[in-house]
Amino acid sequence: MDLKEAIREVEGFPKEGINFKDITPLLKDGKAFRNAIDAIVNNIKNKDIDIVVGPEARGFLLGAPVAYAIGAGFVPVRKPGKLPWETESYDYDLEYGEDSLEIHKDAIHPGTKVAIVDDLLATGGTTKAVIELIEKLGGEVVAVEYLIELEFLNARELLKGYAVDSVIKYND
Ligand code: PRP
Ligand code: MG
Repeated sequence: MDLKEAIREVEGFPKEGINFKDITPLLKDGKAFRNAIDAIVNNIKNKDIDIVVGPEARGFLLGAPVAYAIGAGFVPVRKPGKLPWETESYDYDLEYGEDSLEIHKDAIHPGTKVAIVDDLLATGGTTKAVIELIEKLGGEVVAVEYLIELEFLNARELLKGYAVDSVIKYND
């Protein structure tokens, strides 16, 4: 199954110059959704992962089913002001804009083996922020998993030293 066929490209969203990768057609196609989750699971199944961390919002959609499939826990990283308990926070740059992310302070303990799961790797700014949050709490990032990678943005430079996998790649 070619999962790329289930991704819709939308020129000029959310602003000019961005070719948005819309995963909603994939999510509503039961077979494609299952294949996508299985592909990510296959990349990490031998890594003995304790916790999957997924960044709001699209990271929730893929991270939670991946965690369920491998029998790991799921920890959300959220946009500011959404988490009710004590948080760590980190400011970061996005492909289009700037934001801050938060995690509950008690969500990760020293030595916890963590996989980050998100829908898309663009500049890597979001992931870098998520890594900072996990490492601040003493967690060990043993895998960084995406459904989609925009290879031409060279985010792997920023993520050097981490085990990065993606299922669907775009070269331009
Ligand atoms: C998108 C996407 C990734 C991130 C990738 O999230 O879901 O999380 O951007 O970009 P980067 O590699 O340049 O950081 P976005 O912040 O648009 O929000 P959403 O997931 O809530 O839709
Ligand atoms: Mg996102």
